[in-house]
Amino acid sequence: EPLWLVVPAAGQGRRMGAARPKQYLPLAGRPVLAHTLARLHGALPEARLCLCLDPDDAHFDPAWVPFADWRRVAGGAERADSVANALAAISGEATEQALVLVHDVARPCVTAADLRRLCEALSDDPVGGLLAAPVADTMKRDDGAGRVAATEARAGLWHALTPQGFRYGLLRRALAAAVEAGVTVTDEASAVEALGLAPRLVPGRRDNLKITHPEDLALAEQILIAQRAESSI
Ligand code: CTP
Ligand code: MG
Repeated sequence: EPLWLVVPAAGQGRRMGAARPKQYLPLAGRPVLAHTLARLHGALPEARLCLCLDPDDAHFDPAWVPFADWRRVAGGAERADSVANALAAISGEATEQALVLVHDVARPCVTAADLRRLCEALSDDPVGGLLAAPVADTMKRDDGAGRVAATEARAGLWHALTPQGFRYGLLRRALAAAVEAGVTVTDEASAVEALGLAPRLVPGRRDNLKITHPEDLALAEQILIAQRAESSI
């Protein structure tokens, strides 16, 4: 059974505020997108890739794709629409039970060890799951007027990372149901949760950063340098 990889890369990077989408900004000499695809390929070289790109994208270069089996898919208005387009594009090939990993192009620091551990953890899981990291800060909820309404119990809170992996049929139904209900889901797991299922939390590294704001680029560069010094990466 082939493993599928969906990489949504059709965002505009508005919070980054750069002249081009953040996946095309240079990170240690190469575009973010090239780093992310290289990390995925290093751990999962046999996977089939679906890359979601803005149809008007003017920056993409296929030379950055190391996968032998890959296709380009048009992105949609929201991240979930981009992923749904990818799933629709492979409907003739992917079986209901095929495992589909969805990974943000904006997370170039994901490690091979985390990717392999996620695949291992999901190999016999009936629902699927996601890489996640325990929350370190104390979490406050505001009262809507700039004051603390409550302190949330930190124990048991996790950051949702990517990849998130689910069976093809389940993920397609979950995203379709979210679109149908008109709810905006920012990750695959929440769409699956809305069906009443409980995705598995697979502990992952906290340095699997999503590049979102301008200061994140320098941070990601430092993370890549620090990771290269580790023998396990
Ligand atoms: N994404 C996508 N299609 C969209 C929106 C987002 O494929 N319509 C992708 C982004 O390219 C990114 C991932 O989904 O890999 C996570 O989204 P986010 O970090 O929000 O990226 P952007 O939407 O590009 O950034 P911003 O929200 O700041 O504009
Ligand atoms: Mg966005």
